[in-house]
Amino acid sequence: MPEFQEKCRVSAIEQLASDVFRLTVHAPLIAGAAHPGQFVMVRVVDGFDPLLRRPFSIHQQFAGGSLKLLFKVIGQGTHILSGLAAGDTISLLGPLGRGFDLACREPVCLIGGGMGIAPLAFLAKRLALSGRDSSLDFVLLGARDGDEVSSLADDFSQLGYTVVPATDDGSLGHHGFIPELLDDVLPAVSRVYSCGPYPMMRTVVAKCQKADVVCQVSLETHMACGLGACLGCTVQGNSGQYVHVCKQGPVFYSGEVAWTE
Ligand SMILES: Cc1cc2nc3c(=O)[nH]c(=O)nc-3n(C[C@H](O)[C@H](O)[C@H](O)COP(=O)(O)OP(=O)(O)OC[C@H]3O[C@@H](n4cnc5c(N)ncnc54)[C@H](O)[C@@H]3O)c2cc1C
Ligand code: FES
Repeated sequence: MPEFQEKCRVSAIEQLASDVFRLTVHAPLIAGAAHPGQFVMVRVVDGFDPLLRRPFSIHQQFAGGSLKLLFKVIGQGTHILSGLAAGDTISLLGPLGRGFDLACREPVCLIGGGMGIAPLAFLAKRLALSGRDSSLDFVLLGARDGDEVSSLADDFSQLGYTVVPATDDGSLGHHGFIPELLDDVLPAVSRVYSCGPYPMMRTVVAKCQKADVVCQVSLETHMACGLGACLGCTVQGNSGQYVHVCKQGPVFYSGEVAWTE
């Protein structure tokens, strides 16, 4: 798989909620090679503080060579990213890792929580463009509140998906956690694609296993290099071996991972 390091010009930054931003950059080489579920390592400054690149899922990809990244401000790197303006430049390395397997013609469910929604938007677009009937597919989106999820939900609705949100505070959609909605959807789908906090995905995986529905998950771990060189991102595989999330993932079939923690 080709990987590129590109100096990218920021073309837009949108603030979707108090601490959630969406960055648009021109990255034609990475955009041209990207597959849903892959990620980029972003150098947030030209200098050395912070030294390490930060990993972000490819949220959206456009034929003209643009990429969107969706992120929540949680520390130094994301704080710096949130202060970027159109015309600034940042360095991206990617596309990295193994993405989602799209080979399913039957109805599917995409379920994301928090910033785990990010890679599902690219996935939803690719699936919709493959000629399937998206109205038979479900998108379940969990978030802290309506502000965090409403504009993201619109993106999926515009592609023809049946979108059901859930919020922790009940300000939009179901009041509660998003996996609670999965039981009603599983009988109607053949595959589930999931990304979000680890406990959420563990619940999703358990429900899929019980219903005998294939499930792919995108895992987020700490990553220092993103290239398979530092061992910083390992998780335990299904037979006790350690797997690199950056190289063998971030997308796995649920049975490839030991859901122990
Ligand atoms: C493959 C992959 C894709 C990702 N995609 C996205 C995305 O699309 N949008 C998004 O908002 N975030 C995403 N993340 C998480 C993102 O990389 C981190 O939020 C970011 O690196 C934090 O950088 P920071 O400098 O702001 O925070 P730091 O200062 O590095 O950390 C702040 C705090 O957050 C904790 N932390 C940092 N990274 C992680 C992590 N991966 N898991 C758990 N705790 C962490 C640190 O331990 C620390 O306590 C992804 C992570 C991976 C591995
Ligand atoms: S992040 Fe360095 S090996 Fe995966």
